Amino acid sequence: MSVLDILTFPDPFLKQRAKPVDNVDDSLQQIIEDMAETMYQAPGVGLAANQAGIDACIIVFDPNTDEQSRDFQVLINPVIIETQGRVVSENEGCLSVPDLRSDVPRFERVVVEGLDRRGNPQKIDATGFLSTILQHEIDHLNGILFIDRISALKRQIYKRKRLKEIK
Ligand code: NI
Repeated sequence: MSVLDILTFPDPFLKQRAKPVDNVDDSLQQIIEDMAETMYQAPGVGLAANQAGIDACIIVFDPNTDEQSRDFQVLINPVIIETQGRVVSENEGCLSVPDLRSDVPRFERVVVEGLDRRGNPQKIDATGFLSTILQHEIDHLNGILFIDRISALKRQIYKRKRLKEIK
């Protein structure tokens, strides 16, 4: 297993839509293990493959922040098929958006379909923290960062600060 490098804003790869996986095979297993290790090491509660420079619709997530009970889940080609209600997630952050936390408008409940790491169909009906994580990670696969969902003013302030820092 190895820890992967996480791309950060404004890397253009993060703005691209990730490619759907058309064959769930053994070659994916190592990528999935590496993604999970990268997520835990960061530490984070979710990671999309394209954040690690991998062009594939895969997310790993583990809403349980207790180190003793690590048990990550995988979704390949996840799609939100149903949404309900509106909430504002508090203090959302992202491994690809350093030094920023913000409230973000989200759906209260989402139903997500995808495949598990063996290619079996999965359906997750999520509310609360898990719902926010799934929306955040699926956004990544669509080339969307959480700063794309906050106010234009906040986004501008962050972009300016960040671009100055990395100059
Ligand atoms: Ni993120």
